[in-house]
Amino acid sequence: MSPKPLTDPTSTTASKMQPKHTTIAVVGLGYVGLPLAVHAVSRGFNVIGFDIDEVKVAQLERREANFLDAGAQKDFREARSLAITSHEGALQGADIFIVCVPTPVNAEHMPDLRPLESAAAVVGRALTEGALVVIESTVNPGVCEEVALPILERESGLRRGEFLFAHCPERINPGDKEWSVRNIPRVVGGYDLASRARALELYRTLIAAEVRAMGSLKETEAVKMVENSFRDINIAFVNELAMAFDRAGIDVVNVIRAAATKPFGFMAHYPGCGVGGHCIPVDPYYLIRFGYKNGFEHRFLKVARHTNNAMPGYTVDLLSDQLRVKKKRLKRARVALLGLAYKRDVSDTRESPALIIRDLLTSRGADVRTYDPYALSHSNAKKLEDALKDTDAAIIATDHRAFCSLTPHDFQKYHVDIVIDGRNCLDKRAFQDAGILYKGIGH
Ligand SMILES: NC(=O)c1ccc[n+]([C@@H]2O[C@H](COP(=O)([O-])OP(=O)(O)OC[C@H]3O[C@@H](n4cnc5c(N)ncnc54)[C@H](O)[C@@H]3O)[C@@H](O)[C@H]2O)c1
Repeated sequence: MSPKPLTDPTSTTASKMQPKHTTIAVVGLGYVGLPLAVHAVSRGFNVIGFDIDEVKVAQLERREANFLDAGAQKDFREARSLAITSHEGALQGADIFIVCVPTPVNAEHMPDLRPLESAAAVVGRALTEGALVVIESTVNPGVCEEVALPILERESGLRRGEFLFAHCPERINPGDKEWSVRNIPRVVGGYDLASRARALELYRTLIAAEVRAMGSLKETEAVKMVENSFRDINIAFVNELAMAFDRAGIDVVNVIRAAATKPFGFMAHYPGCGVGGHCIPVDPYYLIRFGYKNGFEHRFLKVARHTNNAMPGYTVDLLSDQLRVKKKRLKRARVALLGLAYKRDVSDTRESPALIIRDLLTSRGADVRTYDPYALSHSNAKKLEDALKDTDAAIIATDHRAFCSLTPHDFQKYHVDIVIDGRNCLDKRAFQDAGILYKGIGH
C-alpha cells in the first residue's frame, strides 16, 4: 500500500502525486542527495540514485555510507529498493530528476558550476517530455535559468515548457537529530506555473512541513543565499566582538548569553576559531559574484568573509601568546589539535577551519598531532592519549561532545598546561582554577 500523502498546513488541495507510479532519479549522492533518495523510498517512490563517482557508488551498493550519521545509515540500509548506479542509461524515462551535486568555489572564491553543468547534461540526455527537473543544489539567482536550463534543452532536444523545471534549495543540517529531510520546511519556485505546481505536489508528498510557493526561480535561489549569508555575517560580527572585547577583559560569551535574555530582537550567535562546511563559507561568495555581475559591491558580505577567514590565524596567535607566557615558542612546540571536522559530531572536514589551523601551525614550525574521532583517516593520532602525550599545548577546534566533556585532569595527566578553546566549549573556570593557561575565543 502506498503511504498517504503528508498533510501540509499551508496546502488547501490534496496532492495528486502517486508515489508508486512515479520514478525519481536523484543525481548526486552526497550529504544532500542520499538522505533525500532514502526518504523518497520511505514515501513509496521508485528511486534511482545516480553518482559519477564509481568508487562511491560501489560503496553505496554495499550500503556503506560512513559520511552519514548512524541513524541515516540505518535508514539507508533499510531502503533496500533504492537502486544505486553510475550508468546514465538507468536514468532514461524517470518522471522526476532531482539534482544534488556540489556547488563549491575555486581557489579565487569564484563559483565553480562545472558539477552542476555536467549533471544538467546527464539529466538532459535522459529527459523526456513532461518530466520534472528540480535543482536542489545551492546557487545564486539566475543560475537555474541561465546555466542549467539551456543545457537541459540542448542535451534533450526539448524546449523549455515541454519539460517542467523547478528549484527547491536543500536546507539539510547533517547531524541534526531534530531537523531532517523529513520535516524541514521548503521553498519551491518554478520556471512556469505548471513546473511550480508539479514541484509543490512533489515536496508536499515528501515533506511533513510547510512547502512555500515562490514567485520565481530567482527569488527561490535568493532565499538560500540569504539564509547562509545571514549566518556568516552574524558569526563575523560576534567574532569581531570577541577580538575587540578580549583586549578589554570582557567575556563576550557572557555578554551574548545575557543579550539573549531579551525575548525579542536579538538572536544569539557565538564566536569560534572559524567557519567551515560546504555552505556558510561558500554561499556568500556566490552572492558577492552575483552582485558584481549586476554592478553592485556587497561590502558587508566581503568584510564578513574576511573576518571569518581570519579566525584560524587569530586562534594560532592566541596559542603563540600563551606559549610565550611559558617562555616557549610556537616553533618546535608540540601541539595537539583536537577536532578536524567543521562542526560538532560529524565527519565532514570540507572547508574546515581546523585544517587551516593545522597548516598554519605546521608552517610556523610547530609539531602538530591531530585527532578527530569522527575523522580518523585525517588524524595522525588515532587516540586522544596519543594526541596529548608529551605535548606543550592543545587546541580544541571542533566542539564534538567527546571534547566538551574533557576536564582539566584529562590534560594535566599528560602535563598539558595550555589549552586554547576554539569553540568555547570547556568549563573555563574549572580550567583556570586547576592552573591551566586557558584561552577561549573572546572568552
Ligand atoms: N552538505 C550540506 O550540509 C548541505 C546543506 C544544504 C545544501 N547543500 C547543497 O547541496 C549541494 C550538494 O551538497 P553535498 O554536501 O550533498 O555535496 P557532496 O559532495 O556530499 O555530494 C555531491 C555528490 O555529487 C556527485 N557528483 C558530482 N558531480 C556529479 C555529476 N555531474 N553527476 C552526478 N553526480 C555528481 C559527487 O560525486 C558527490 O557524491 C550543494 O549545492 C550544497 O551547497 C549542502
